[in-house]
Amino acid sequence: MTLSDTHPASEPRPIAAPSVGRAHAAEFKRAAARFASGVTVVTARHDGLAHGITVSAFASFCLDPLQVLVSIYRENRLHSMITGARSFAVSILREDQRAISEYFATPGRAPCDAFPGVACHSEVTGAPLISGSLAHFDCVLTAAFPGSDHTIFIGDVVAVSAGDGAPLVYFDRDYRGVREHQAACAAG
Ligand SMILES: Cc1cc2nc3c(=O)[nH]c(=O)nc-3n(C[C@H](O)[C@H](O)[C@H](O)COP(=O)(O)O)c2cc1C
Repeated sequence: MTLSDTHPASEPRPIAAPSVGRAHAAEFKRAAARFASGVTVVTARHDGLAHGITVSAFASFCLDPLQVLVSIYRENRLHSMITGARSFAVSILREDQRAISEYFATPGRAPCDAFPGVACHSEVTGAPLISGSLAHFDCVLTAAFPGSDHTIFIGDVVAVSAGDGAPLVYFDRDYRGVREHQAACAAG
């Protein structure tokens, strides 16, 4: 899939709002929180500045070519940086990287040259990768599918690496390690 198959990532085009939903927003959020996910940090570097946010809406997408997708809130600074840079990176956090997730979920951070206290490196695109993360994907932006308030960005993976260890887990609006999550589920 290429950008020309859809439309330019720099020109989001909202889809029609669903006819049901607003009255069920609270239950929607409760239901979505029932989905246990890993935790990633998605970053981009554009015009010499880097930005990153904590993202759980990540998935591997296609195998040929290798592609991943992330869903990013349209008003977030990172959104325009991804469309500007036409690249992004995804770092999957380890069990012991909760503080990194909390940092990148903090609102109001300005794009900067380097994230304070967070060791990073870059590979092909220049987007920062969180050093010591469980796995990472460096991606060139190939398509963008705008929704009403989020955009799904699809990237061709140009560098990838996977380590060993346990992931940080987010469930019911709280962080857990995998073992902690298993114990909580067993306890009911
Ligand atoms: C566990 C977790 C998962 C998140 N997942 C997403 C996501 O998938 N997409 C997104 O746009 N924001 C997501 N957020 C919210 C952003 O991390 C947050 O709005 C952002 O870091 C705020 O920074 P800003 O000032 O640049 O907007 C998530 C937050 C947390 C704590």
